[in-house]
Amino acid sequence: MELYLDTADVGEIRRLTALYPVDGVTTNPGLLAAVGGDPAGTLCAIREAIGPDAPMFAQVIPADAEGMARDARALVRLLGRNTVVKVPAVPEGFRAIRMLKAAGIAACGTVVYAPMQALMAAKAGAAYVAPYVNRIDNLGYDGVAVTRQIHDLLERQGLPAKVLAASFRSAQQVQALCLHGVPAVTCAPAVLDAMMKNPAVDEAVAAFAADFAGLAGEGKGMADMI
Ligand code: E4P
Repeated sequence: MELYLDTADVGEIRRLTALYPVDGVTTNPGLLAAVGGDPAGTLCAIREAIGPDAPMFAQVIPADAEGMARDARALVRLLGRNTVVKVPAVPEGFRAIRMLKAAGIAACGTVVYAPMQALMAAKAGAAYVAPYVNRIDNLGYDGVAVTRQIHDLLERQGLPAKVLAASFRSAQQVQALCLHGVPAVTCAPAVLDAMMKNPAVDEAVAAFAADFAGLAGEGKGMADMI
């Protein structure tokens, strides 16, 4: 399973990639706006932080397919070969995804709220499709269930696009989709931190440390005993 960080905050990217086996970073215009400054500079800083081999997702801005393709080529020039270009899964986006496929540029159909939208992006040649789990929940539907349907639909239709589940608010949403076999998820730093936070675990780890300190002395490890 691929695990991505959904943020444009370079400090958070450095902190979390040092701790967790993260595969890469996903961004969108909202995340770039949240950190402010020059968006191209932010994207370059992220690329530098994760290295040239990690997949990095960046989104096109124009509403027409030609403009989207132009943005996509510029993003690949800026960020290198392991760039996946996010294209909104709308009619002009499907046209752009076909153009990018023909040009050998990997695309992710994004802003996916419904299975048929994902199917269309996948059929156009997207390498990934990104359903927005929590935003679907916020509309009164079941984001996890819709994302499961999308995953099953792509498999049954033999389409190679991978589901990149996005827009999470809870560990429960992420876990449900991991259990279902969704091949890629992207989590905001706060969701990833919350997922790994458990006072019972901290207490157990602290008790082991205290037991060993009582046996061998404060601050000693196994290496000091061997
Ligand atoms: C990721 O690719 C999406 O752009 C992102 O997860 C959307 O998340 P949000 O609903 O938290 O903005």
